[in-house]
This record gives sequence, C-alpha cells and structure tokens, in this order.
Amino acid sequence: MFPSSEIYGGVEALYDYGPLGSLLKNNIKAAWLKRFVQEREEVSLIDASVIMNPKVWEASGHVQNFTDPLIECKSCHARFRADYMVSGRFKGQGEAKDVNQCPSCGDRDFTEAKDFNLMFKTYLGAVQEEKNATFLRPETAQSMFTDFKLVQETQRHKVPFGIAQVGKAFRNEITTGNYLFRVKEMEQMEIEYFVKPGEDEKWFDYWVKEWQEFFLDMGLDKKNMRLYEHPKESLAHYSKRTVDIEYKFPFGWGELAGVANRTDFDLKAHEKASGESLTYTDPESKEKYHPFVIEPTMGVDRLFLALLLEAYEEVQGARTKTTKAAKEVETILKLKAFLTPIQVAVFPLVKNKEEIVKKAREVFDLLKKRFSAQYDETGAIGRRYRRGDEIGTFFAVTIDFESLEDGAVTLRDRDTMSQDRVKIEELVETIERKLHDKDD
Ligand code: GAP
Repeated sequence: MFPSSEIYGGVEALYDYGPLGSLLKNNIKAAWLKRFVQEREEVSLIDASVIMNPKVWEASGHVQNFTDPLIECKSCHARFRADYMVSGRFKGQGEAKDVNQCPSCGDRDFTEAKDFNLMFKTYLGAVQEEKNATFLRPETAQSMFTDFKLVQETQRHKVPFGIAQVGKAFRNEITTGNYLFRVKEMEQMEIEYFVKPGEDEKWFDYWVKEWQEFFLDMGLDKKNMRLYEHPKESLAHYSKRTVDIEYKFPFGWGELAGVANRTDFDLKAHEKASGESLTYTDPESKEKYHPFVIEPTMGVDRLFLALLLEAYEEVQGARTKTTKAAKEVETILKLKAFLTPIQVAVFPLVKNKEEIVKKAREVFDLLKKRFSAQYDETGAIGRRYRRGDEIGTFFAVTIDFESLEDGAVTLRDRDTMSQDRVKIEELVETIERKLHDKDD
C-alpha cells in the first residue's frame, strides 16, 4: 500500500494498492464473485455507475440522513465527530489528556454539534449550479434497487433472488484513521437479496451464516470474529435489524461486514419518487408485492486488512537453521493459495550461467500461463526464499546444474520448507494438486 499522491505528501485516508496489494485485492474479489455469483443461479452481478441521478439520494434518504454529528474546536478549528469526542475516542491522542479535549491543541471549547453529510458532492455538466449537483455513491446498494426490475425481468428471476455488486463507494469521513479501516474511497461487496415478506427473518439468519463461513474459508480465525447486534435506537434509517460481523483488529473490535434487513423501504421509496412500479408478481399465485430486502455487505479494504493481519507471522530466530539466519526474525505471510499475490516464484540458481537462465526462463514461461508467477534472479537463494515468504509466495522452483542433466527442479514449500525434486513435465500438475490440497 502507498499513500495516495505520495510525492505531494499523501492525502488523509486515501491509499493506492501497489503491485502486490492489487493482486491480493483482486484475488479477494474473485473469491467472493466465485462463491456468491458464479456458484449461485439465483444471484446476478451488475456493475453500475458511481454517479447516479441525484433524485436517487433524495429518495433513499441519504441527503437527509447520511450524516455524522460534527463539532469544531473554537481555538484551532480542527473538526471531529461529536459522538467520538464524547465517548473518549481521542483521549490519549496528541494534546488530549482527557475526554472532551481537542487532540490538536488541548482546548475544551467546541461549537454545537451539527449534522455533516458524508456524501461527496459533484456536478453533472459544465455549469456548477445546484440543479446539476449530485453525489458520488456512498454505498453500492442503491443501483441494485433502481435496477431491480430490469435485472429481475431480463434474468427471469423468481423471488428469492439476489443482485450482487463489487465496486467503489465514497464517504467524506470526519474522523479517519486506523489505516485501511476507515478510508474515504473504499470498495464494497454487497448483495441485495429479494425475499417474500414474512420470510425475511429466516433469510437474515441464513446470510449471517453465509458471511461467517466465507470469512472462515478465506482464512480468518473464528476467535477473531464476533457478532454485534445493533440496538434498535442505533439502526440506520432503512433497517429493521442489523448484525455486524466484527473482527479483532489490533486497535480493537471493529465492523468488518454487516447484514441488514432493509425491509421494503428502498423499493417503496424509489417507486414513490420515480413513479415506476417496483413490485414483483409471483408467477404461480399471481400475488403482487414489494419484496423485502436482506442486505449482506462487506468492505474489501477491511477484509484485505484483516487477512493481512491474520496471515502475518514473525518467527523469532528464523526457521532456517544456518548460523547466520538463526539470528534473524523471519517473516511469513501465510495467505491461502487462492489469495496470495504470487503463487510460484522461479529462481535460476545462478544468473551468470546461460544454460541455467535459459532453462529457468522456459520453466517460468510454462508456469506463468497457469499460475500467478514471478521470476527472480537477484541475491542468494536463501534470501530469495525469504523474500518470497514475506509476500506469501507459495512455491519456489529452483533450476540448478542438475536440472540440465535430469530435467528436474527443486520445488520448495513456503509453509513446510520441504524441498522436492519434480520433473519439469510434471511441474504444472504437481503445483496444481498441491495448491488445491492447501486450499481445502
Ligand atoms: N449498503 C450498506 C452499507 O453501506 P455500511 O455498514 O455503511 O453499510 C458496508 O458499509 C461495509 O463497508 C462495512 O461493513 C465496512 O466493511 C465497509 N466500510 C464502510 N465505511 C467504510 C470506510 N470509511 N472505510 C472502509 N470501509 C468501510
């Protein structure tokens, strides 16, 4: 990860995913899409525009309700979330020795709290006037409501069915921090699952379980996850019930994902505002109704952070037993095989022997078509193994002098550090089998 626009000093709460981060993030999204779209007949994917008709945000309630209480320090004009100030979130930070003290200057005098809308405003067209104003979407959900009828009819879906989306959402958060946990530009993976009213509570429980199982299969530890039931008074304006799946981050338990029962709030609101019917007619009973919506949602960036924390391991004294290495701390990123940015690295034992380099390049060309692969010829072989371990590289393939004689290479496993000789013609199949075993 890099700070966004790093050469200009960065921008608060905006990050760029670098070469390895992008691969990991893509693998997270691919695993989610496979599980919740590819393997499900009743869920369809859309990829909607980030900027929508401004009427969407009036109807959805976001213009009115998507706010946080904002206070300003009267001395230094720093701004904070009022609820965080009262709960003592800033105590111990900067100049704040106590609750209700400004972390920037230590003063205790704040303006009255006023509602601050978190949506980023922008303008459609060349004239910046109010009638052209709209917002960057603060959640991917709304397009799945506005497209509800189009998806249902074109895909001939019967209730229950879902619309899924992976995409960016934007929030002008007042208090950011904790790295990727609270950013201003994030990515969400959401499903709006349309069900028959009366069956909503059953489907709610179903999706909480599905979400939990997904996180376990991604490699999160059960003991680092817990459920949080939102009390009625803190529910979002659209929700009848919300349960968060929290993760134990180093800075405390925090929301990783959520499941909300949005009832028929959104479909009815958009129907009223647009004048378009958003009802569903049961093909058998001919009953006409507004489906209830169960919304399982998760943030890609928060899951990315949780997976990194879970996978990161430091081994004191190192795993390798050579005298020099024994003094070091070894770092291993134990990401699952389907998530790890680089699945296999190819190393020529030496870089100044033409035949070895040629053979290593042949092996790399073979492997890169099937796996996420990297070619690395810099440094001693032990260093290259450790560099690979640090970024989670699952297997390392080393081509040595013997390879030129017997057509076999050394296949080294990240986790066990075992080293097996494998014939080049059996290499793809062997790696495929081992990766598959690792994922089970
Ligand atoms: N459509 C429902 C919705 O947007 P939310 O709880 O506000 O619900 C869904 O957001 C998920 O998006 C959260 O569970 C969290 O993982 C992620 N998320 C929300 N705000 C975020 C932020 N500022 N930075 C990073 N991730 C965020």
